[in-house]
Amino acid sequence: MSNLKENILKLKKEKNAVLLAHYYQEPAIQDIADYVGDSLGLSQQAASTSADIILFAGVHFMAETAKILNPSKKVLLPDLEAGCSLAESCPPALFKTFVEAHPEHTVITYVNCSAHIKALSDIVCTSSNAVKIVESVPKHKPVIFAPDRNLGNYINRKTGRNMLLWDGSCIVHEAFSLEKLEALHKKNPDAQIIAHPESETSVLETADYIGSTAGMIQYVKTSPAQTFIVATEAGILYKMQQEVPEKTLIPAPAYENNTCACSECPYMKMNTLQKVYDCLLHESPEITVAEDIRQKALRPIERMLQLSE
Ligand code: 13P
Ligand code: SF4
Repeated sequence: MSNLKENILKLKKEKNAVLLAHYYQEPAIQDIADYVGDSLGLSQQAASTSADIILFAGVHFMAETAKILNPSKKVLLPDLEAGCSLAESCPPALFKTFVEAHPEHTVITYVNCSAHIKALSDIVCTSSNAVKIVESVPKHKPVIFAPDRNLGNYINRKTGRNMLLWDGSCIVHEAFSLEKLEALHKKNPDAQIIAHPESETSVLETADYIGSTAGMIQYVKTSPAQTFIVATEAGILYKMQQEVPEKTLIPAPAYENNTCACSECPYMKMNTLQKVYDCLLHESPEITVAEDIRQKALRPIERMLQLSE
């Protein structure tokens, strides 16, 4: 094990810190994390931890959700610039005007948004519980869904609803090329296509399975298929391959202008092992949330956690 990894583990123990990492984090970070998971799993861990420090190897909205749920803990994010294109696509002032223009609507927001957006919401959801959360609202009630239009469209198709959608999207999941995906599938006709619901409708229509990162890993574990084309951020392949060492995993191809043949999240990849160490050593950068916003944002997150039990 590298010195850096050993030093992080030592500091973690000394400071009673827990390291929570998303599946899109680089392998070296996942290797030393106390828990690796999807957005829902990570927020459940953050809510229940007894550690003094939550070191969040993920992006800003995830660490912010941890702080909202567990405000007495010090929540650290290795790089404060680790944002999310979806969260950025929903500015609070514009969203507030939109919500106020539709007062009869229930507001459901995908967890990939800022605390200010959550504070304007009735219920939060993640990709692993989105359909269930939407179905918890009586069918006759109009719903606003934000910020991901691809996930919103997917839920509309799945539930037969007509939710009003915010026009946000994820730069990583929109980077998949349908043409290249179809060509790859032709070359691997026995492969199953699995996709994250942030992907475009045309990609989702090719998929044998659609679900959260944790859902996708669970699917490859239980499916009898041997080969999978995986349409989500390439970081997931590390943990997925560990779970199914005998199966073949092929990353879905992205458009030409991407730096790799697959699709990588530039925000998730801002975190490095060195930054994890520095952040734990200096206990900075730290996530803070104004108390009035925190309280308003907490209610819709708690509703989600209750509905996910
Ligand atoms: P999951 O909750 O499915 O891990 O998704 C998080 C995310 O940011 C996907 O891009
Ligand atoms: Fe946001 Fe997309 Fe990166 Fe997930 S993959 S954190 S949705 S930009």
